[in-house]
Amino acid sequence: MSTSLRVTAWSDAARARAALAGPLPFGKVFADLMARIQHDAEHGWHDGAIVPFGPLALSPAAKVLHYGQEIFEGQKAYAWPDGRVALFRPELNARRLNQSARRMVMPEVPEALQLEALELLVDLVRAWVPRGPGTALYLRPALLGIDPTLGVAPSASHLYLVLAAPVGGYFQAGAGGIAVRVEEREVRAYPGGVGAAKTGGNYAAGLRAQQRAKAAGFDQVLFLDGREHRLLEEMNGMNVFAVLDGVVCTPPLGDTVLDGVTRRSLLELAPALGLRAEERELPLDELVAGLRRGRVSELFTSGTGAGLTAVSLLGVGEERVPVGPSGPGPVTRLLGEELSGIQQGLRPDRFGWMREVGAHPVGADAPAPRPRSARA
Ligand code: COI
Repeated sequence: MSTSLRVTAWSDAARARAALAGPLPFGKVFADLMARIQHDAEHGWHDGAIVPFGPLALSPAAKVLHYGQEIFEGQKAYAWPDGRVALFRPELNARRLNQSARRMVMPEVPEALQLEALELLVDLVRAWVPRGPGTALYLRPALLGIDPTLGVAPSASHLYLVLAAPVGGYFQAGAGGIAVRVEEREVRAYPGGVGAAKTGGNYAAGLRAQQRAKAAGFDQVLFLDGREHRLLEEMNGMNVFAVLDGVVCTPPLGDTVLDGVTRRSLLELAPALGLRAEERELPLDELVAGLRRGRVSELFTSGTGAGLTAVSLLGVGEERVPVGPSGPGPVTRLLGEELSGIQQGLRPDRFGWMREVGAHPVGADAPAPRPRSARA
């Protein structure tokens, strides 16, 4: 491995200020720099650089464009009131990227190299980290197979990227919560498949059901297991939780459900807040009966992009089943406020989850002075 990343361009703080003054719809505004590292069998990881955000030069035959040999991550950096910037559990994303890489026959990106690229990029685009409740700098690492050949075979050359996007909330729905439609025919994942890997095809597989849900007036779709279409699995980009008999429940992982960093953090956080939490199968029948009889008091999504979002309505077939009283219930609020308090630097980081950017060495060859334009 011969990389620390070269810095080939500086961020423009005036551009950042102008961008942050406007609305921040999810994934539509991008910081002006990105990280890029190449890999091939001969050189290993090489040519790491921070470069201007912009189009890639790829062969039209690149494997990623034809066979979807691609994986990605989603994580966030938060601006704290005292001006510091911190990443939330980035080592878990780095580990998960490598789990996805193994499943998709791609080279692992050393965790230290991922952290170096993330930290250096965030440090250089500090001015793009939005301030204010519900905002963050969303980071999108991605690994692409770029061999310019059409044989169906693992790519031998790869490109690792990290994009940075200042974001607000993921959903447009108001504080009342989102409406979610259960998809009873199409599936997102199947045992033995790639559902547990964070690969683009999983999200593409969910698009049609998501589009149908939207056309019927819902915000999101909830998938069931592929074998029996009976058990809750996940949504198209977020995990699902139910509060059942007062217990915070989420479906177990297996190989069809993504090991969400927010999901895992909630399972760890709940007991510290005096809540019982459980990974357990959630049959749709039990959920619907539970909603009707008041045994299920709350339903919410968890994800890096989506955060904790209350579900206020569940669509099952032609039925629309309301979830508890309008707005986030007490458990959703308790968990959500504690988690976002830790992330935003407003509450003690009792688990040591936050990693301050600029407080760790980012590689011997990284530039020492911070460019003037990168200062907020
Ligand atoms: C995330 O929550 O970061 C995701 O990756 C889900 C989605 C926006 C694709």
